Amino acid sequence: MKCVYLDHCATTPVREEVVESMQSFFSEEFGNPSNIHTPGQRARNALETARKSIASVIGVDSREVVFTSGGTESDNLAIKGVAYASKKGKHIVTSSIEHPAVLNSCRYLESQGYSVTYLPVDEYGLVSADSVKGALRSETVLVSIMMANNEVGTIQPIKEIGEITRARGIPFHTDAVQAVGKIPVKADDLNVDLISISGHKIYGPKGVGALYVRKGIPITSLMHGGSHEQGLRPGTENVPASIGLARAMEHAEEERDAFFQRMLDLRSMLKDGIKKEINDVRFNGHPEHSLPNLLNASFRFVEGEALLLSLDTKGIAVSTGSACSSGSLETSHVLTAMGVDPELATGSLRFSLGRMNDEEDVSYVIAVLSEAVTKLREMSS
Ligand SMILES: Cc1ncc(COP(=O)(O)O)c(C=O)c1O
Repeated sequence: MKCVYLDHCATTPVREEVVESMQSFFSEEFGNPSNIHTPGQRARNALETARKSIASVIGVDSREVVFTSGGTESDNLAIKGVAYASKKGKHIVTSSIEHPAVLNSCRYLESQGYSVTYLPVDEYGLVSADSVKGALRSETVLVSIMMANNEVGTIQPIKEIGEITRARGIPFHTDAVQAVGKIPVKADDLNVDLISISGHKIYGPKGVGALYVRKGIPITSLMHGGSHEQGLRPGTENVPASIGLARAMEHAEEERDAFFQRMLDLRSMLKDGIKKEINDVRFNGHPEHSLPNLLNASFRFVEGEALLLSLDTKGIAVSTGSACSSGSLETSHVLTAMGVDPELATGSLRFSLGRMNDEEDVSYVIAVLSEAVTKLREMSS
């Protein structure tokens, strides 16, 4: 049976060059970077080279990059770490369509006496820079707005928001987990102070990520231990995974423009095919300001989970929303915030393309999808 993986926003396979770059650091080069003997220093050098390479992709100093266990930890560290370190107040501004790693960090802070403004979005999932400006208070300690949404792909006006936060001297965090490798993520161009990155969305390993923290931004560690990662993230560093993350970022950056165009072409083909073959479909997300590889579509009179499982029997892997909410029948918080009618929202699928997909895959998906939707609609009527 043909297998077509269209869930690259959930995770990606590790690319061969990345596996190779990590290999020797599991065995021969196993030193602990905190040790001053030769094996330790070899690991330290490799780790610092990896840090420099990540820093260079996002245009920052390597001392501003902290290795973490992934996007979730980076988001937690950015939000709680900055909130706890700030003496100015207890107010945070975020959006209603953030990843649960951001939303639930904010909710936790609410339980600790902080107040959080969850900004609304428009029908395309866009946060307006004006709404950020209007939400700021004298006691606002952090603004956290994701760069690109993981369910519908909408890209936020980060640069514009950054100009506002910069003028007010408020730290600005962006979750760039889905943006890296697709659009430029340069800290200075975007006026951001903290950036969350994850390895497994960019053909790197799972369980590794990074947080950029601009020099001078007050931040507190969430864990207590040794002085690793400048005390911000204690624990012996995951040397192989950090090297893999760096290699994945280098490749993602090198190939970014070509990848963007290739994904755009495949996505157009998929979207046009769906439009042609299936009626009563709504496409969710911004028509222009959007990740090139993501297509979110709602199929009326169809249950998304049923459609997903039906595609799965034909070797096609897609998602009904974010990976974290699959398995639950709750309507997506992102589609709800965008004002998508709840009945339509439950019939939504996220197709996310990747570097190994081709036109043949897309044609296969269109044909199988069209048949599956027709079948499910007949059953439901
Ligand atoms: C936007 C966004 N932020 C954070 C995360 C969490 O990243 P990780 O899986 O590395 O913890 C994800 C993963 O789905 C994501 O899409």
